Amino acid sequence: MANTLGNLGVYLRAAREMPLSEFVARAATRIPGLDGPWLRRKIALADAKGTDASRMSGFLDRLEALALEHTGRGLGIPGARVLEVGCGPLAGFAPMLFQRGATSVTAIEPDWNSALFQHRNVDDVYLARVAAHLGAPTTAASLRQRLDRDLTVLKSGLENAPTEGPFDLSLSQSCLEHVRDLEASALTLKRVLAQGARQAHLVNFGNHRKRDHPFETIYEMPPEAYHARFGRHINLGRPPDVARAFAAAGLDVMVIPVDRNEASLANVALHPWWAERYSREELAIRTAIVLSRT
Ligand SMILES: C[S@@+](CC[C@H](N)C(=O)[O-])C[C@H]1O[C@@H](n2cnc3c(N)ncnc32)[C@H](O)[C@@H]1O
Repeated sequence: MANTLGNLGVYLRAAREMPLSEFVARAATRIPGLDGPWLRRKIALADAKGTDASRMSGFLDRLEALALEHTGRGLGIPGARVLEVGCGPLAGFAPMLFQRGATSVTAIEPDWNSALFQHRNVDDVYLARVAAHLGAPTTAASLRQRLDRDLTVLKSGLENAPTEGPFDLSLSQSCLEHVRDLEASALTLKRVLAQGARQAHLVNFGNHRKRDHPFETIYEMPPEAYHARFGRHINLGRPPDVARAFAAAGLDVMVIPVDRNEASLANVALHPWWAERYSREELAIRTAIVLSRT
């Protein structure tokens, strides 16, 4: 009951902010027996954010820019064997990576639905939009051909991903905050990345419900209470925890704040669990990037 009430505000806001078709399709997945491939496809293609052709290329541009700013080098996509973690239902960065010269892309996605991604509507709606965004000579058909040939998606969590690599580059966008086990995830990366491989992971430390109030509810209770009330959609690790997990795995990375929200931090009644473990500076970080040093 507490869980349902805790999420009521989220549902009401979603109803206001989502296109009606997406909200109805998502709500229908809650009805026993209705959830299935047809509905999943409806959701993926009704998702205005997820099917915005410029969204993933914009994120990739930002990862490139941050790598350049903080390491003096770009991501090194041309010729790279790329590992994308948590690509989402429409194969994440893959089309953009191929257009920028990647040799192959392996994606890890626990919710992967191959029937959904292979459906013709994905070509007609999403890939057509991406092709138009990328410009001639790219077409939906040429993208599909390349994806069929050089994209492998592993339906798994990063923690126990069934791959040996090796990969030259690992990327993720808003995924590491969702993995169950940061330490095990970092160990997988260490195992599958080639010597000198590059990494860029954008991590969102907010509550994923209110963009302007990212720390509301999170810092008001200990993690256990948060998980009991809102579910385990985020692991609640903070930037120092991410840095520790990567260092413990033997990965040489920097965790660099990308944006902070001091106002949201000032507006929450900070529970001692958080105040005792982290500085206010660490708690105010909304997004950060994990970048390999080399
Ligand atoms: C917020 S979504 C981001 C999806 C996509 N990167 C984007 O920006 O649209 C987080 C993604 O991480 C995936 N994910 C959750 N737990 C994971 C895990 N343990 N290993 C890999 N991916 C995971 C989810 O299934 C989901 O697709």
